[in-house]
Amino acid sequence: DLLDEIKRLEDMFTIPTDKLKAITNHFVGELTKGLTKEGGSIPMNVTWCMGYPTGYETGTFLALDMGGTNLRVCEIRLPEAKGEFDIIQSKYRMPEELKTGNADELWGYIADCLQQFIEYHHEGEELEKLPLGFTFSYPATQDAIDHGVLQRWTKGFDIDGVEGQDVVPPFEAALKERGVPIKLTALINDTTGTLIASAYTDTDMKIGCIFGTGCNAAYMENVGSIPKLEGMDLDPELPMAINCEWGAFDNEHVILPRTPYDIIIDKESPRPGQQAFEKMIAGLYLGELFRLVLVDLHENQNVKIFEGQDIKKLRKPYSLDSSFLSAIEEDPFENLSNTQDLIQKELDIKCSRAELELVRRLSELIGTRAARLSACGVAAICKKKGYETAHVGADGSVFNKYPHFKQRGAQALREILDWPEPKSRKEKDPIEIMAAEDGSGVGAALIAALTLKRVQEGN
Ligand code: BG6
Ligand code: GLC
Repeated sequence: DLLDEIKRLEDMFTIPTDKLKAITNHFVGELTKGLTKEGGSIPMNVTWCMGYPTGYETGTFLALDMGGTNLRVCEIRLPEAKGEFDIIQSKYRMPEELKTGNADELWGYIADCLQQFIEYHHEGEELEKLPLGFTFSYPATQDAIDHGVLQRWTKGFDIDGVEGQDVVPPFEAALKERGVPIKLTALINDTTGTLIASAYTDTDMKIGCIFGTGCNAAYMENVGSIPKLEGMDLDPELPMAINCEWGAFDNEHVILPRTPYDIIIDKESPRPGQQAFEKMIAGLYLGELFRLVLVDLHENQNVKIFEGQDIKKLRKPYSLDSSFLSAIEEDPFENLSNTQDLIQKELDIKCSRAELELVRRLSELIGTRAARLSACGVAAICKKKGYETAHVGADGSVFNKYPHFKQRGAQALREILDWPEPKSRKEKDPIEIMAAEDGSGVGAALIAALTLKRVQEGN
């Protein structure tokens, strides 16, 4: 019956401590491999963001933040006062069609947003070219901080003619066409932005993470520990931020416990075989996993759910996003009436009490697995670097909005690293994952400031 079904799902989606430890250990090796000349599945991209901010950076910068869901344009002023900033910003939704449309439309849309922003906030002003930090949150190969060749699209993007190309020239051309007075100073990743923005106000910050539409992390390595930079005549002691692109962890499928549903997600995605780790964790996929399980239970298993009902709406791929699961997990278990209403409203399906309990348990299993796997990545970077204590700055819709994500991640870290349970709510774990303050906007401005300073100093 349904209880047996729940048990089966629990076995499939639960990752015990030993497995978390095994995944973490394998992860450490993969991070190291990614830094070699031969490389591995995790790209470990060199970012040319070299060093932490001092807190005394100054200037006015534009930041453009192209994540998976929103496009944000910000103007950031870094005043003299240590660790402070002022920000004004406008948010634009990335139109869905753009993600699978053509490259000219993409760059045109972004340039239009920037132009609108500048016209609105600087109407009639004669502007010098403003320095821009562009947060382009996709894997890019960089041989300088103001260039980046897109390795591959992730997060469901699929725009022809961009992969394998430097994204800066077409972007600058779109700006020039519109006469927008901007100079791209730094092309960065959201994780690097999060790391640098977090370190601006908290010197214990060692890792920047995103748990949102996608999932990834950045941390600081020494040049001497990055074999792929050998021969470039750089001081081995120099710090260099590495954008791990850890979403690609285990693309060769040797350690992650994938379910049949994970395999379907991968097969049906625009880039099968890529982002194996990300596809089990990131917000883009959580709702889809949930949907696939429910359709399967309705059709293929001994115990049918939603029997005799038309599940046409549930059959639509990617129709449920992670906020759907968040809402289910937020519902008080006693009556699950919000869950009932939500499923009725969004999917035209009526649930029995037993079905509601299954739906709730399934959400918990998917959300918990995501948080526990995320912890393996954080633990792996800490192990690789020998960090016994650290703050980890995190951003993204899953981290900020998914119920219990933080606690579940923290619990998994304790299991992986053999820490005792804290005795009180006040007691802190040695490595703590905490919300980063507006990572990408401020981070992009800071990195632009650090870059200009480096250029001025002739480094
Ligand atoms: C935002 C950052 O807060 O979070 C972006 O400014 C980042 O740079 C984003 O990409 C990630 O979250 P999501 O949920 O929008 O993918
Ligand atoms: C995807 C992108 C990566 C980004 C992450 C979070 O993994 O490839 O660059 O940091 O999503 O947005």
